[in-house]
Amino acid sequence: MQRIEQVADVWLWPHDRAIDHAVLEQRIADADGIYCMLTDRIDRPLLETAHNLRVVSTMAVGVDNIDVATCAALGILVGHTPDVLTDSTADLAFALLMAVSRRIPEGIEYVRSGAWRRWEPEALLGLDVSGTTLGIIGMGRIGTALNTRAAAFDMRVLYTARSDHRVDAQRVELRDLLAEADHVVVAAPLSEDTRGLIDRSALRLMKPSASLINIARGPIVDTDALADALRSGDIRCAALDVTDPEPIPPDHALVGMPNCLIVPHIGSATRRTRIAMADVAADNLIAALRDEPMPARYA
Ligand code: DGY
Repeated sequence: MQRIEQVADVWLWPHDRAIDHAVLEQRIADADGIYCMLTDRIDRPLLETAHNLRVVSTMAVGVDNIDVATCAALGILVGHTPDVLTDSTADLAFALLMAVSRRIPEGIEYVRSGAWRRWEPEALLGLDVSGTTLGIIGMGRIGTALNTRAAAFDMRVLYTARSDHRVDAQRVELRDLLAEADHVVVAAPLSEDTRGLIDRSALRLMKPSASLINIARGPIVDTDALADALRSGDIRCAALDVTDPEPIPPDHALVGMPNCLIVPHIGSATRRTRIAMADVAADNLIAALRDEPMPARYA
């Protein structure tokens, strides 16, 4: 804020919740730039009312909340925050994979509820991680960081991507990845190609012993189909950092399932990473307002 205030008059939404769309509409009308969050919908009708707008700077790597094509058509720059959150997000993906596979939340509940009376040879048996096959959907920055972590666990890695990447992993068709992987991590951006990608038929292709981890965007996975798959045993367990809808209501079927672990979109939530994201988003905004190259221009 302090750095932005040196180059612009700033109006700040003062509440600790996403800005009301009507207020955004009103405020954007004569703004030169906007610094937004992934919860703000920057759509075509909004952009068309923003007559002076030169830049949309989002404090996120994902830009699915922004109509990027309309921005391009109207000559509005879009900035985002890649790289600085890659490691934190890949770390969280692995934390979720380990936690749900080794049934850590169930173990915590077992202890807290007093159910733990003795060591039992078959209590809380989970899935192996080391030496298993990891399927990564989307071999971008975060997918690549997941691949690095998987090497330390002696995992064989399969991935899907639009093109080959120079990584020590095998690029395969989605159906083969789903059929062969012991753990599937969704790490692709949300787009019209990936919306609903993990639907009922995709889940049926997975092994009954497999885990599904989503650290990308909720709508890539069909929520109802996932709940059914977990209930019927089509897959063993799931861990979600992102949901559809988001936030997921506490009374949603998935929330109460012992084999589904849900955390509230905290992939990049470390102090260091969030400060870095805030800085990059500020740098992008300031550069664009000064007609200088943005450090992380999306489009
Ligand atoms: C992003 O940046 O897109 C994440 O979802 C939040 O860090």
